[in-house]
Amino acid sequence: MEHAKHIIRAVLLLVIAATVFVLARHFAIPASYGEYGSYRSASVTEHAAKETRHGAADSCAGCHAEQVDNKAGGKHATLSCESCHAPLAVHVLNDQKVGPMPIPTPVEACGWCHQKLRARPEGFPQVVLADHVAENGETMTDSVCLECHNAHNPSE
Ligand code: HEC
Ligand code: HEC
Ligand code: HEC
Ligand code: HEC
Repeated sequence: MEHAKHIIRAVLLLVIAATVFVLARHFAIPASYGEYGSYRSASVTEHAAKETRHGAADSCAGCHAEQVDNKAGGKHATLSCESCHAPLAVHVLNDQKVGPMPIPTPVEACGWCHQKLRARPEGFPQVVLADHVAENGETMTDSVCLECHNAHNPSE
């Protein structure tokens, strides 16, 4: 028995370590974890409770019929207004204008989608912005694209 002491100590240490682990795990795991699967189910309710900021595709129509109609008739018909401007919430709340809607710098915004990149689908209209402007006899400025293209209906 004399020689078993060190084994008892080692086992004791292991038991303490295991207890600490089980207790720490119990307190560290969020309450709703594992309820339905290996995720925290309360996060679903938390996300659902977040304030809606985007108004979606037709949320501008009531107040900006001119821009909406113009866009609908052209190559930008499928774009959401909010993808170039900003979420509806910065501009309108309860049908009232509450703040300015940002207008993007054209050259920068056009480049998000049209600057030539290998990663884009092949058939997608792409230009090397600087070359395209030079080929069309203009010098580059922040709004040069709008001299020949309408932002809402670019082929017009
Ligand atoms: C491709 C990016 C893009 C999209 C998509 C877009 N806009 Fe614009 N918008 C612009 C730019 C750039 C200007 C500045 C135009 C200028 O200075 O002539 C602008 C200007 C405006 C203006 C100021 C008045 C005017 O016509 O110049 C309004 C209002 C507006 N947009 C509303 C809308 C609405 C509503 C939609 C959706 C139907 C929309 N925009 C979609 C880029 C866009
Ligand atoms: C409840 C009405 C209303 C809605 C909805 C609305 N706007 Fe406006 N917006 C206005 C008013 C009013 C102005 C200022 C007068 C004007 O330019 O017609 C304005 C101006 C703008 C301007 C010019 C910059 C500024 O803030 O003055 C842009 C760009 C714009 N709106 C974009 C949008 C876009 C994009 C949407 C949809 C996501 C939208 N608006 C939805 C009422 C509205
Ligand atoms: C959010 C992405 C996006 C932004 C930003 C954007 N475009 Fe477009 N653009 C498109 C899509 C999508 C099409 C339609 C492509 C198609 O028909 O295959 C298009 C089509 C075009 C076309 C017509 C090309 C053709 O086939 O005749 C021109 C010109 C154009 N855009 C210019 C612009 C200019 C100028 C700006 C900046 C004011 C701009 N675009 C900003 C997505 C975008
Ligand atoms: C001086 C006039 C002019 C200016 C400035 C201009 N463009 Fe163009 N753009 C054209 C013409 C004309 C075409 C159609 C012929 C062609 O494909 O070159 C065109 C075509 C395009 C196309 C379609 C290309 C394709 O493959 O179908 C895109 C995208 C485009 N422009 C984006 C832009 C952007 C972004 C800017 C600003 C950096 C800009 N353009 C500035 C005249 C211009």
